[in-house]
Order: sequence, then C-alpha cells, then structure tokens
Amino acid sequence: MKAAHGAPGEALAIVEMDRPMPGKGEVLIEVAAAGLNRADLAQKAGRYPPPPGASPILGLEVSGIVAEVGPGTERFKVGDRVCALLAGGGYATHVVADEGSLMAVPAGFDLTLACCFPEALFTVWANVFDRAGLKPGENFLCHGATSGIGVMALQMANVWGAAKIFGTAGSDEKCALARELGATRAINYRTEVFEDVVKAEGGADVTLDMVGGDYIQKNIAAANADGRIINIAYQDGFAASVNFAPVLMKRLSLMATTLRARPVLEKRRIRDAVERDFWPHVLSGAIRPVLDGTFPLAEAEAALARMNQGGHSGKILLLP
Ligand SMILES: NC(=O)c1ccc[n+]([C@@H]2O[C@H](COP(=O)([O-])OP(=O)(O)OC[C@H]3O[C@@H](n4cnc5c(N)ncnc54)[C@H](OP(=O)(O)O)[C@@H]3O)[C@@H](O)[C@H]2O)c1
Repeated sequence: MKAAHGAPGEALAIVEMDRPMPGKGEVLIEVAAAGLNRADLAQKAGRYPPPPGASPILGLEVSGIVAEVGPGTERFKVGDRVCALLAGGGYATHVVADEGSLMAVPAGFDLTLACCFPEALFTVWANVFDRAGLKPGENFLCHGATSGIGVMALQMANVWGAAKIFGTAGSDEKCALARELGATRAINYRTEVFEDVVKAEGGADVTLDMVGGDYIQKNIAAANADGRIINIAYQDGFAASVNFAPVLMKRLSLMATTLRARPVLEKRRIRDAVERDFWPHVLSGAIRPVLDGTFPLAEAEAALARMNQGGHSGKILLLP
C-alpha cells in the first residue's frame, strides 16, 4: 500500500509499506478519503505521539470500502461502504480499524464526504452530550465554531434542540458560516468581547472550548449557574491564573477529555450513541458535511500547511 509518511519533524512523502492485516474484530478499509485533524500537526511535529499499538502514520479518520475482515467481525463485510474513527494510519491507501469505530455509509451518500463526520461527531458527542450533558432548551457556547469540530457541534446542538447557540470565530466570513450552520449568535472575537455578549444574551449552560489560556476565566464568566465547561484542547495554553470564586458560587463543572487513547470498547459505546442520536440526521441531510477542500494524498504537506495557516473552515480531506 501507499502512505504519506515521514519521521517527526520531516516532510511527508509517499512511501510503499506493507498492507496491515486486520486482527480480531477489525476490518481493512480501502481508503476513499482521509480527514485532516489539528492533532495531526502536533503529531507531525513530534509533540503528540500515537498511543501504544496505533499506527505511526498520521490520520484519525477515513471513509472507504471494507476490503478484508478479521476473525470475529460481526457486523461489517467485504464491500461495505463505511466511515471510521482511527487511532492512526489514515493517510494511506489502506488502514485497519476496529469494527466498533465504523459507521455504515448507505448507497447514494457521497463516500468522500462521509469522511467529514467520524472524528467530529464522536468528539462532540463524547464531550458536549455525554460528559457535559447538553439538554434540549439549554444554551450552548462553541468556540472555534468553524473548525472541523465546531461545524458539527453547531449542527448537532441545533438538531438536539438547544435554545441559544453561540459560536465564536476569528472573521466575519467564518461568523456568516457559523450562522448558516445553526449559530443563533455568531461572535467575531476580534471585534466583540465574547463573554460580555454571551452573558448579556442569556449565558451558556454548556461551553465547548479548544482555546484554553485566558478563555478559562472568560468561559467561567459567560457560564450560567450549574454550567458545564468542557475543554478538548488548550491551544492558547494549559496554564492560567484563575479566580475560582464564580465556579463555587455558580456551581460550575470544569472538564476536559481526549478521544484518541480511549479503549476500543469505549469508542464502540460512543459510536453506538452517535449512530442512534445523530447519524440519522446526517443521512437525512439535517446535518451536512462542511468541506473546505481536497488534496491528493501525495500533497499531504500542502494540506497540512493550509490547516496550520488557519484560513480553512470545516474539513480538509486527502484523496489517495
Ligand atoms: N480532545 C479531543 O478528543 C479532541 C478531538 C478532536 C479535536 N480536538 C481539538 O479540537 C480543536 C479543533 O480541531 P480541528 O481538527 O477541528 O481543528 P481546526 O479545524 O484546525 O480548528 C481549529 C480552530 O481553533 C480556532 N482557534 C482559536 N484559537 C486558536 C489558536 N490559538 N490557534 C489555532 N486555532 C485557534 C480556529 O478558529 P479561528 O480561526 O476562528 O480563530 C479554528 O477554527 C483542536 O485544537 C484539536 O486538537 C480535540
């Protein structure tokens, strides 16, 4: 098989590698598209090594066709159209995935676009809905509203029946997209003070944050009583000087999680919930893919450069 691969810190190049063999409960997927995720930039720089047992090749999600099944697979068979969450290995023509991380892509649904969903749906469900327990009628604040994650979080909160959906982004164009995707109030954080806007317009019951740093205090300020704030990254810093008095007085919960290193059984639980609660909305078109653009697998470096530069909205995909 071919993969876009390179040692940490070095440029990716197409290399020929042995095709992986599916083990117990696993399938081999012939990749139609591989999704970029911000974590790929950190892994490539040597700051986010793959968890034990995971492929050293970049790539946390793919769509494609099942090419082989390992012993004990129950649900998927050769020829099935699928999209999958991975612990690594997606930047390749073939990849192995646990069948508990797969979702079926029906005939008629664009197989390339199906790759816009797994990482974002799984992450948002595990954080916003499972841990933070967003309920219909509650207000939701989503930072990075037009990130690969944010474009799904806004739409999922919308179909779930959130009352107010606040989304922050760094340009007016990104704010316009956030509104299209269901943000009832998009906030350009370069021209408005997000915590003042959110507080004045009803406050946040659940906040999904990927910024950290000084947003930690600001999220606390924007939260309603009994609010839940969940971090999936700390792009502006893990350390902050925080006044916890409002956490105490408003009975807030501060949480943070990662998805990649969770055991396969836990990912299976998340997959089942996503399939039950949100996949039907994807298939009906109520939740739509947001594609920034595609690059050939051989141009993985250029694709990562686009993500690093930050002008993108939604998903960047590699096509083998
Ligand atoms: N914990 C987990 O399990 C998990 C899973 C998936 C993703 N994540 C994290 O979630 C975040 C989004 O992932 P993604 O793949 O969707 O990435 P992405 O598309 O590159 O989005 C990153 C977003 O962060 C915003 N941002 C705010 N402050 C930033 C800063 N200082 N530097 C760079 N961007 C900044 C950008 O929005 P503006 O341009 O509007 O500022 C951009 O929309 C990443 O930090 C990723 O590591 C965590």
